[in-house]
Parts: sequence; structure tokens; C-alpha cells
Amino acid sequence: MSRMPIYMDHHATTPVEPRVLAAMLPYFSEIFGNAASKDHEFGYQASHAVEQGRTQVAALINARPDEIIFTSGATESDNLALFGVAERYADTGDHIITCVTEHKAILDAAKHLEAQGKRVTYLRVNQYGQIDLDELRAAITPQTVLISIMAANNEIGTLAPLAEIGRIAREHGVLFHTDATQAAGSIPLDVQKMQIDLLSLSAHKMYGPKGIGALYVRRSNPRVRLAPLLYGGGHERGMRSGTLNVPGIVGFGVAAEIARREMKDQAAQLHAWTEQLFAGLQQHITGIALNGHPTERLPHNLNVYIPGVESRAFIAGLKDLAVATGSACTSASVEPSHVIMALGFGEERAHGSLRFGLGRSNDVAQTEQAIKLVSSRSIKLRSLLRD
Ligand SMILES: Cc1ncc(COP(=O)(O)O)c(C=O)c1O
Repeated sequence: MSRMPIYMDHHATTPVEPRVLAAMLPYFSEIFGNAASKDHEFGYQASHAVEQGRTQVAALINARPDEIIFTSGATESDNLALFGVAERYADTGDHIITCVTEHKAILDAAKHLEAQGKRVTYLRVNQYGQIDLDELRAAITPQTVLISIMAANNEIGTLAPLAEIGRIAREHGVLFHTDATQAAGSIPLDVQKMQIDLLSLSAHKMYGPKGIGALYVRRSNPRVRLAPLLYGGGHERGMRSGTLNVPGIVGFGVAAEIARREMKDQAAQLHAWTEQLFAGLQQHITGIALNGHPTERLPHNLNVYIPGVESRAFIAGLKDLAVATGSACTSASVEPSHVIMALGFGEERAHGSLRFGLGRSNDVAQTEQAIKLVSSRSIKLRSLLRD
């Protein structure tokens, strides 16, 4: 087998951690029951495993286990939050507030709601990717039913002031949803302290399996109600019908538990490596600039602009390092990143940016190697441009 490149694309996905995989394996063939089968031991065991997973996922965000609705991933969770609230609260109002740098799972769902006659405000961001809280306040109307602002951006890592947004939403009696897909497991999240009513999660961004996620739905103060996307057997308190993905839920639970226990040490480590990476790149690449906020950012994210370099051409010749040019989830399109564009620097910057997402499997030596690979590639490309 050929040697694999150094993996620095952990915002796209993470490998399943061995402890997670070990916990999941028996649930494929030994303990294979349907968690909804209440007539025998196979079903009881599966149901017990699901409830344990639910408790572990809830603990990561300081929620109650019965506030966790399992889904197929954050795309579904985001869709369920937006469509579920829009339909269920249609009598209260028809207005939603979100932000231009959200993931497509929010933006495209919001566009679909607009096509159905709902009204959506897309808040702008400053050069660091932050919304203005006064603009948020000013956007709220008596018809506003939901504010949806992501916890951490998947491209530039900028963090949102969740507690402040939660306070504003609560003051105005508006529900607050956050897409915490990239933040969960990397930074502390507390739905009570931050007054979050709905929160999207995905296991594969925190060393769990793909195809399993969750939506936190607050059950008291206020009790949030949602219209379902899927109708059927009434699983997950009627909000998400369909046979539960038991191995996925077991893996998600263990991944969440490990993240909760090890988050602090890991964040410090990842932050040190991203600092090392940026400092090293700055030494070798003139004019390199950071995209996103210098301090209010995910510990494992580094997004940089390398002037004079087209990032697609750049990574095409970078065979020993796996990094991204934009959001992996929209990599089928070659449009400039909507996130970098929203920062206001123009198209050239959007086409000349690279995203590094560091993770547990990286180390100091790999970081040094990444500096070497990226520096020599950019020096080479720039010299070709000059010739
Ligand atoms: C911020 C954000 N939201 C939603 C998603 C979609 O998650 P999933 O792959 O679980 O559907 C992603 C995936 O990249 C993401 O980064």
C-alpha cells in the first residue's frame, strides 16, 4: 500500500477512534436487536445501549438525556431544527434570523423556507467572521421565531458568542438554535448556561462514526416543540421516526464521553500545533495572512491566505498532505468559498486560501513536515508565476 499523506483535514471528518470502534463492534452482530422491540432480550439490550449513548451525548452539552433526538448527522439535525420550528411555530411568526457564513445545511434549508414564503434575515459578518450583536437585536421582530447561529465556523474556525446570543434570544422570547457540529468535543458547550434551545451535533467530527448525529431539543423553560421531517413509527418522541442506528449511537456515546474527559488537554495540544504551524508558515511565506479571528477560534483550525497562489492548483501538487481549500461538504463545486467571500476581501483571497484542521493523530513532527511541504510548494508556485 502506498504511504498515506499526513491528514490535516479534521473539519471534514475524523477517523473513528479505536476505543469507539471497539465499543461499537458487538452491536453489529451479537447485540443486534431493534431498540424499539420491547418483547425480548435482544431489544432490551439494544435499547439499554441507546439510552447509555443518549446519556453520554447529553453530558457533553449539559443536557438531559431525554432532550437528545438521534438523527443521521448534522445536516438532518439542522434541517429538522429549521423546518421543524418553522412549521410548528407558523402561528407565532414567519421570520428566522441566521448568518451568511453558516454551513449549507442551514443556508439551503433557509432558502427553501423562503421559497415557501417564510422570511429570513442573513446577518453579515465582520472581517473576522463575527456577527454584530446590535444587528442581531435590530433584526428581531414580533414575527421572529428562531435565531440560528453556528457555534464555530467549519472553514475559518471563528467562534460565536453563544451565551450573549442566548441571552438576546431569551429576552425577546425567540428560540435559539446553534449548529455546533465543529465546536462539540473541541470547546466546552453548556445548553443551560448559554440558554440554547436547539443544538446540532455530528459524531464523525469528534472521532465517532459517520451517519449518526443528534439534535438537542430543550424540554423545559421553554419546552420546544418540533414538526418532524420523517413520519413513521414515532421513534425519538415522534420527532424522528426510523429504526435507531444502534452501533452508531453506541459509538457516538463513547466518542462524546472521551471528548468530554479529554477535551481540555487536547485543546491545549492542538492549539500549540496550530500556533507552531502558523508561525512556521509565516517564516517562509511572505504575505501569508490568517482568515478568521486570531483568538476567538477553534483550537484545531488554521485557515490561511497565500497571496499569488491558486489553492486548487496548490493542493493538486501537494500529494503528501491532506488539507482543504474550502468547505469539504461543498467541494463538488469550484465556486469561491462563501465564508471567505463574506469576510469582504474579494474573490482572489477566497481562491487562494487553505484550511488546516489538526487532530489527535497529528504531532509536532507532522506539523514541521506540513510547514516544509506547504512552504516549498508555495515558493515553487510563486517562482513559476514569476517566470
Ligand atoms: C458546521 C457544519 N454543519 C453541518 C455539517 C454537516 O454534518 P454531517 O456531515 O453530519 O451531515 C458540517 C459538515 O461538515 C459542518 O461542518
